[in-house]
Amino acid sequence: MLILGIESSCDETAASVVRDGVEVFSNVVSSQVEEHRKFGGVVPELASRRHCENILGVVGQAIEQAGVTLDDIDAIAVTYAPGLIGALLVGVNFAKGISLATGKPLVPVHHIAGHIAANYIAHSDLKPPYICLVASGGHSHIVEVVSYTEFKVHGRTRDDAAGECFDKAARAMGFPYPGGVHIDKATQSGNADEYKLPRPKVEGCEFDFSFSGLKTAVINLIHNAEQKGHTINKSNLAASLQKTISEILTEKTIGVAKRLGYKTIALAGGVSANTGIRGSFAKACEEEGFTLYMPPLSLCGDNGAMIACQGYFEFLSGRRADESLNAIATLSLENL
Ligand code: KG4
Ligand code: ZN
Repeated sequence: MLILGIESSCDETAASVVRDGVEVFSNVVSSQVEEHRKFGGVVPELASRRHCENILGVVGQAIEQAGVTLDDIDAIAVTYAPGLIGALLVGVNFAKGISLATGKPLVPVHHIAGHIAANYIAHSDLKPPYICLVASGGHSHIVEVVSYTEFKVHGRTRDDAAGECFDKAARAMGFPYPGGVHIDKATQSGNADEYKLPRPKVEGCEFDFSFSGLKTAVINLIHNAEQKGHTINKSNLAASLQKTISEILTEKTIGVAKRLGYKTIALAGGVSANTGIRGSFAKACEEEGFTLYMPPLSLCGDNGAMIACQGYFEFLSGRRADESLNAIATLSLENL
């Protein structure tokens, strides 16, 4: 069956046509990153306006590049939560419009479930249950993927997401937004042991994260050096930060897998494109005898294919929405 997936939760307008959850016929992503760069982060109001302008063209291209027509599409899947509310509303209303006009079923998709599903596109042998680390600009979750459509969260960030920590530290280092990828590149010639960075302790759940303190520590280190006229070695600082984040994410995710008796781990989300994180997980999983799945770089960030893929599994489980579907800015992955 052919699913049209639509994604507009942040600063990417994206649409894709996917067959049976795995075969990607088209995957069109229109990024607004250049425009938000001059503000050092996503400006929600601007993002909504750009989605409004872009969505018709992006969805049209996705259908055209797939070599199909709207008639051939069996269902429309759309990200309805979580994300920037004005941005989500554009995709949700566009999808509702297509569904109403064509009579085709509408399937609501949780954005984080979509990120997890990106793995099914690349790895046909991956099947629930398993443990997935979802790390993006807005989320850091350790998820038990009970089935394709049921999730339990065993660790989450108490404050900032890993991507936020990368991006704000990168900004203080003078890299353009979004800085995660620039930190990644800068680490290549860096010594990760030069700067000792804090590893925040979290009271209560041992698998929860806190990246706010780490972010502040890097920003303070840079400001203190500037005030004293000292130079920071950017590559070394980037490498130290990347190593610290990688170790925290790896240790906690492996910890959850061991506690629950899982031997399969997957990564998902924009931050899972990070070389250090991928390397750290590959090493730890090999040592522990775990199987590791990672999405290809092209499917780590926001895209429509992951929404179409998850939409397929939601469709099979009987999930449907009608014209009363609304966007939700914050929504737990559990009890969907
Ligand atoms: O999943 P995503 O595209 O959007 C959200 O749902 O948030 O993730 C975007 C995040 C940004 O914080 C970006 O800096 C980060 O993913 N990112 C990276 C890398 N590539 C993207 N962070 C570290 N290293 C990378 N190579
Ligand atoms: Zn995302």
